[in-house]
Amino acid sequence: MEEKKKKLEALKREKRAVIMAHYYVPGEVQEIANYVGDSYYLSEMATRVDCDIIVLCGVRFMGESAKILNPKKKVLLPAANADCPMAHMATVERIEEVRREHPDAAVVCYVNSTAELKSHSDVCVTSSNAVKIVRALPNKEIFFIPDEHLGAFVAEQVPEKTILQNDGYCHVHANIRPEEIMAAKKARPEAKVLVHPECQSSVVQLADYVGSTAGIIQYATKSEASEFIVATELGVLTELKKRNPEKKFYAAGNTQICPNMKKITLDGVIDVLLHETNEVIMEESMREAAYAPLCRMLELAKD
Ligand code: 13P
Ligand code: SF4
Repeated sequence: MEEKKKKLEALKREKRAVIMAHYYVPGEVQEIANYVGDSYYLSEMATRVDCDIIVLCGVRFMGESAKILNPKKKVLLPAANADCPMAHMATVERIEEVRREHPDAAVVCYVNSTAELKSHSDVCVTSSNAVKIVRALPNKEIFFIPDEHLGAFVAEQVPEKTILQNDGYCHVHANIRPEEIMAAKKARPEAKVLVHPECQSSVVQLADYVGSTAGIIQYATKSEASEFIVATELGVLTELKKRNPEKKFYAAGNTQICPNMKKITLDGVIDVLLHETNEVIMEESMREAAYAPLCRMLELAKD
């Protein structure tokens, strides 16, 4: 392990590379990353890093976002087949149909989506800023893609707008059942329930806190409570335990593993950096079209 880390450090220096990782990738990868965060943090940080190569340790849409925001940098994916199924759960045809039927609606695209879907949208959002951005838009009607659960959460938080929903979901979060939360809560009545908004609304309703992975980590770190039931992908436990060694964290169920995020390995990171393989390539016209909604998000998300 130490040898691998040394090799990676040398490669990073030689190639002026930075390693960015999402909280859901394995702990061994989070450990060697220069930056670890949620989807918003990774997009925002991608606009600020000074380097020639970004190794994006996450699923494909995360690498695509880094490339859209950084056309001059080489963006490498440690696992070419690490893709988020939800990123494909909307269609350009449906967007066009909704635009025809609701000409005043804004198309709001969760970043967990392909570059093509982003390129047909008005603004992107992440789970940490979706409510704020939808509220700030001048449009009364919103077509929210691709996640129906995050869309439902936004609809509840922003009742003054009409949210047109799409049929898309994250299988990792949507599989967490309310009965599992209730059973965990019964076993540990003092524990606070932390829920990601990609969960079903019946799970969201049982939460003490709902937010992005970074929000969940921040809430647990600041909280006076000492026990937490975690309803998101279990990669967050690495950072939760690191920041709060004295607190206890329990998984809400037993299916909270994203198989695609777990395809990222330390060996994969070293290999792509060494050979500069799995580069994110995209047509310039699509990149430009996807750049505008991503930039609008970064602008609207600022405090
Ligand atoms: P956040 O990073 O916005 O919490 O999103 C979670 C997720 O599902 C990323 O794949
Ligand atoms: Fe996609 Fe869900 Fe995995 Fe995130 S956790 S990459 S949304 S399948």
